Amino acid sequence: MKRTLVVTGASSGIGLETTKKLLKNNYRIIGIARDFSRQPIDSDNFIPITLDLADISPLPQALTQINRDHPEISGIIACAGKGRFGSLETFSYEQMKYLIDLNFISNTYLTKSLLPTFKKKDHTDIIFIGSEAALAGGKWGAIYSATKFALRGFAQSLRQECAKSGVRITLINPGMVRTPFFDDLEFNHGAEEENYIEASDIAQTILNTLEMRPGTVIDEINLSPLKKVITHQSKAKDNHSPH
Ligand SMILES: NC(=O)c1ccc[n+]([C@@H]2O[C@H](COP(=O)([O-])OP(=O)(O)OC[C@H]3O[C@@H](n4cnc5c(N)ncnc54)[C@H](OP(=O)(O)O)[C@@H]3O)[C@@H](O)[C@H]2O)c1
Repeated sequence: MKRTLVVTGASSGIGLETTKKLLKNNYRIIGIARDFSRQPIDSDNFIPITLDLADISPLPQALTQINRDHPEISGIIACAGKGRFGSLETFSYEQMKYLIDLNFISNTYLTKSLLPTFKKKDHTDIIFIGSEAALAGGKWGAIYSATKFALRGFAQSLRQECAKSGVRITLINPGMVRTPFFDDLEFNHGAEEENYIEASDIAQTILNTLEMRPGTVIDEINLSPLKKVITHQSKAKDNHSPH
């Protein structure tokens, strides 16, 4: 058995593929999400924890408990997140807060909770899934992009803060990845396989990052599909394409 890692968003898409890949490579995974029933993971080395990361108030207590129950945790792969796109006035205040809490605040809480233990260990990893929206703002993406810019600033600052410890910080910024992320959106990457990144590609990138020689840190990785295509679909009228 290698290390025990927390993977948020382990029930779908990037987090699910990453969990499968890491289990196959002999890691032990504590998965966090709200619903693991859609694609159950059958492994003795997988511990599912049901938690709503957008519900910020009870989160510190839940995270303290996880930390107490599993002092062996030596890494975080933070994948949980959601997309919502549209002009600012189409968002309710609640929708704005939800996106900020889930995509940004929950990651700061999770990190704060585990960091003191991590700093005492020789070798730990914190890998955040950012986005190409962390690199440039785009039409309809004001809140989503802001959450990912915030996460990027957090990751960069934390990297400096941890630079005298064994804690490695990495930010991965994908373009469009073929996952259920687009199920509620009115756009996606289109059907051709050059139009999207596979979740398994991100999982492989995460494995490579974890298995890099401990003395080297991969600070940030940007990935994009070979062909950049946006396909519009009319299912969610209030959830617009950023392009
Ligand atoms: N797909 C893309 O094109 C793309 C591109 C760039 C960046 N990203 C980022 O990649 C990350 C993963 O997205 P994905 O593409 O894998 O999407 P996905 O398939 O929809 O997966 C999202 C994951 O987040 C979890 N999640 C959502 N709301 C949650 C909540 N309130 N509490 C706890 N967990 C919650 C979901 O689990 P439950 O529903 O079970 O709670 C699920 O496991 C996100 O941060 C997204 O912003 C995606």
